Amino acid sequence: MSPVSRPEVNSKLIDGTALATRIRQAAAGRIRLIREQTGVTPTLATVIVGDDPASHTYVRMKRTRCEDAGMRSVNIELPDTATTAEIVARIATLARDQAVHGILVQHPVPRPIDRRAVFEAIPIAKDVDGVTAGTLGRVILGMEAFIPCTPRGIMALLEEYRVDLDGAHAVVIGRSPILGRPMASLLINRHTTVTLCHSRTRDLPTIVRHADILIAALGKPKFVQGDWIKPGAVVIDAGYNPGDSGIIGDVDFDEALEPCSLITPVPGGVGPMTIAMLIDQTTQAAATQLGVEF
Ligand SMILES: NC(=O)c1ccc[n+]([C@@H]2O[C@H](COP(=O)([O-])OP(=O)(O)OC[C@H]3O[C@@H](n4cnc5c(N)ncnc54)[C@H](OP(=O)(O)O)[C@@H]3O)[C@@H](O)[C@H]2O)c1
Repeated sequence: MSPVSRPEVNSKLIDGTALATRIRQAAAGRIRLIREQTGVTPTLATVIVGDDPASHTYVRMKRTRCEDAGMRSVNIELPDTATTAEIVARIATLARDQAVHGILVQHPVPRPIDRRAVFEAIPIAKDVDGVTAGTLGRVILGMEAFIPCTPRGIMALLEEYRVDLDGAHAVVIGRSPILGRPMASLLINRHTTVTLCHSRTRDLPTIVRHADILIAALGKPKFVQGDWIKPGAVVIDAGYNPGDSGIIGDVDFDEALEPCSLITPVPGGVGPMTIAMLIDQTTQAAATQLGVEF
């Protein structure tokens, strides 16, 4: 039963940790089944370029969670002096490796590396993080695909909390290929009316004030103010900004709490869902490649 339908909980908080835990546990069961049926352990390869400490922390978190679920992980670390051709060649090797079922390239890939060329080296069947142009095209068209993990996690949260998407107006702030753009497409495919905003958008507060559902994914701490929030709106904060006192979202949580009907905390909202979806999609990729049906 969804927490929102339990009046005794009487909370506006969307609990991403709880749903993510259930998804990871279900994936762990399927990983066990794959191993029992095939003798093969589902495997995720992570590729990280350069020495950005935050990126290394994120990759470590993802690998730990994968291993906790019973998955194997292979970590490829390349210096930021690596050329695009060298990185593409490493990914091509992983693409051919039958023991690797999913490939994740941690972003941002440092410049001047051609990140698009790097992402496109991942075959669609192993694109468990949903970064290739082929995957994005499939998402836009509503075709089966490994959906970018953060937008897929957000859709799962909206479903879990029974948010009515059909005909609602969603405002998505951010148009990156891994977050804002696929997010808008997934909502459009569910008959939501979507306004996609970005850094050139004029009078963002007025647009946000019309949102039944707000998805903030711009990477600016506490950017969205409480008086921008329409009373009763559902607020999804994908922001993950390291601050002195921990991780800070893109929405001023304390201000937004009063007018909203539901809100994701940071941390504990969208973040855990992203990793859960990565594990879920890598498990699915392994099952498909190994011919296992659940
Ligand atoms: N929780 C998770 O698991 C997770 C996963 C991925 C990302 N994130 C977080 O989500 C946020 C966005 O990530 P991203 O990778 O999509 O970032 P990104 O690639 O840097 O894209 C940011 C987007 O926000 C827009 N933007 C920037 N400033 C703006 C402003 N003042 N007004 C309106 N739009 C503005 C940019 O517009 P332009 O296109 O015009 O430049 C761009 O489209 C970050 O905080 C990131 O850490 C969280």
